[in-house]
Amino acid sequence: MAEERTYPPSPEFVKHAHVKGMEGYRALYKRAEEHPGEFWSELADKELFWFEKWSKPFEWNPPFVKWFVGGKTNVSYNCIDRHLTTARKNKVAILWEGEPGDQRMISYQELHRLVSRFANVLKSRGLKAGDRAIIYMPMIPELPVAMLACTRLGIIHSVVFGGFSAEALKARIQDLEAQVVITADGGWRRGKEVRLKPAVDDALADCPTVLDVIVYRRTGGAVEMKPGRDRWWHDLDEKTAETCDAEPMDSEAPLYVLYTSGTTGKPKGIVHSSGGYLLQAHMTMKWVFDLHEEDTYWCTADIGWVTGHSYIVYGPLSVGATTVMYEGAPDCPQPDRFWRLIEKYRVSIFYTSPTAIRAFVRQGDQWPNAHDLSSLRLLGSVGEPINPAAWEWYHKTIGKERCPIVDTWWQTETGAIMISPLPGAVPTKPGSATLPLPGVLPDVVDLNGKPVELNHEGFLIIRRPWPSMLRTIWRDPKRYEEQYWKRIPGNYLTGDAARCDSDGYFCILGRVDDVMNVSGHRLSTMELESALVRHPAVAEAAVVGKPHEITGQSVACFVTLKQGNWDHEQLAQDLRQWVAHEIGAFAKPEQIRFTDALPKTRSGKIMRRLLREIVTSNTVAGDVTTLEDLSVVTRLAAQTEEE
Ligand code: WT7
Repeated sequence: MAEERTYPPSPEFVKHAHVKGMEGYRALYKRAEEHPGEFWSELADKELFWFEKWSKPFEWNPPFVKWFVGGKTNVSYNCIDRHLTTARKNKVAILWEGEPGDQRMISYQELHRLVSRFANVLKSRGLKAGDRAIIYMPMIPELPVAMLACTRLGIIHSVVFGGFSAEALKARIQDLEAQVVITADGGWRRGKEVRLKPAVDDALADCPTVLDVIVYRRTGGAVEMKPGRDRWWHDLDEKTAETCDAEPMDSEAPLYVLYTSGTTGKPKGIVHSSGGYLLQAHMTMKWVFDLHEEDTYWCTADIGWVTGHSYIVYGPLSVGATTVMYEGAPDCPQPDRFWRLIEKYRVSIFYTSPTAIRAFVRQGDQWPNAHDLSSLRLLGSVGEPINPAAWEWYHKTIGKERCPIVDTWWQTETGAIMISPLPGAVPTKPGSATLPLPGVLPDVVDLNGKPVELNHEGFLIIRRPWPSMLRTIWRDPKRYEEQYWKRIPGNYLTGDAARCDSDGYFCILGRVDDVMNVSGHRLSTMELESALVRHPAVAEAAVVGKPHEITGQSVACFVTLKQGNWDHEQLAQDLRQWVAHEIGAFAKPEQIRFTDALPKTRSGKIMRRLLREIVTSNTVAGDVTTLEDLSVVTRLAAQTEEE
């Protein structure tokens, strides 16, 4: 997929970059590879604040790792307090715009006040280190405020993306056994109120551990407040003190749990640590985004995903950046909202997804061309492979051929960017995430763990533990071990296919497991299938990813029905709605096909490979089609699959 054209950084960019030229990169990489303990220790010492120093840089008892053993730190303190004694005290920390156009510019000093007050609110509700908070909020400043308040006290937070349904929210609250839910009445999206509180009410019908619900008023829409359980943020906040000491936390104390889809029907609670996680989020802000004091940095992700955790909140605030946050849709009120924001706030670093870029391509150049984008100096991409054509467009139309593009490969599990160009060092190639960052040792291997030849496809693995890697799966260390460390023993299995070229550049090809990537959102085949079979009309379902021009992949479902007289058009609509209800609207299938039988191997395994071929080659056209007789193809394909 990668093109052979390379784009070296301009001498001007190199001159000011944190890491200058390939020599700069190679020196860092070599030191991290040869002396990982010293390398990371020096950085932890220089770049972060510690209440107490660690006794050992790391301890690796595969598959479990500890970083900065015995060290005490606090992530909220690192993101806020330590900036208050510097010129950053009155610098804008969070530059926010709501979809309706309302604005807030929150300085580090003001952020300190907001976070301390809300931490006091949490304390007043009896919450303490080790407790769990679910945060289900729109993209408003109170979302990072709530995260940082938890972090300040050592309360483990789990942000649930606002697009998830009540059912998905409930599953997460139950798995985490959370004591508190922090939410809002709703948020704005495409001019409409997206209500959140009703979903919380539905979810909580079945969550006995939750004693408190704190509701922020954002839209002013009507909400029901359950006496004794629900309280308004502003009522509680009114009565609290302005300061709250940050709790010294063990370096290994869990910072947050973020649920992501795996290869089974049950989402995995990815557990991240405090010290190691923050260090790598912090370092990658400097290495990959080349963050300088005067930058205005904007990552367009939602904080409900890991990108928002590491690159809207923790990474940027730790380095003392101005981080831009936007509440709403990119095309509201018109397709130029992003370009408008870049022009208005003079954004210098812009980080978005290939899906967004492909949608911009389709909308036409007139939208970005109508705006002054000269403040931009660096562009980023994340979440899915970026096709060379979209890369070139991004480079020309947005970057005006001036701005390096960092195609950053990483995962919820890795916590921070793993493979990406350093913009002042590594020449880029469209479609390639290029080289691993210092301390990251990737390889491309076959299923026996043997490295494949150059330019051959294989499984992407990581050979050594890194500071920001997941520590475990919440209350399921067995699944953690089996999922990531058993297949190629002692190595971390990413679940992605990749290819490495003669320059050592990595090209990431996509998932090799039953995980789909729709608009950069991770969805599980099994999760969708189990959602579908919970519908009373459905006997069996098989779900595959179908290549999609804009979103990379879309959800295609093959469904067999129970006995009955079904109106297929109507039922397809109902099933889409059902998926929105069970998981969230963003997971709605694009295609639903009804079939008498699903193609299976003789041992009864659904042959998703065959279904993938059918949806890819479009042998069957139309959105709702009856696949009457798959039996012949099925038999033939079943034979080859089992041989
Ligand atoms: C999966 C992880 C990392 C934050 C957002 C997604 C795919 C991610 C790239 C990239 C090709 C990419 C992989 C990965 N992916 N970045 N630059 N090039 N593919 O986090 O939901 O944990 O998904 O996203 O398939 O495994 P996630």
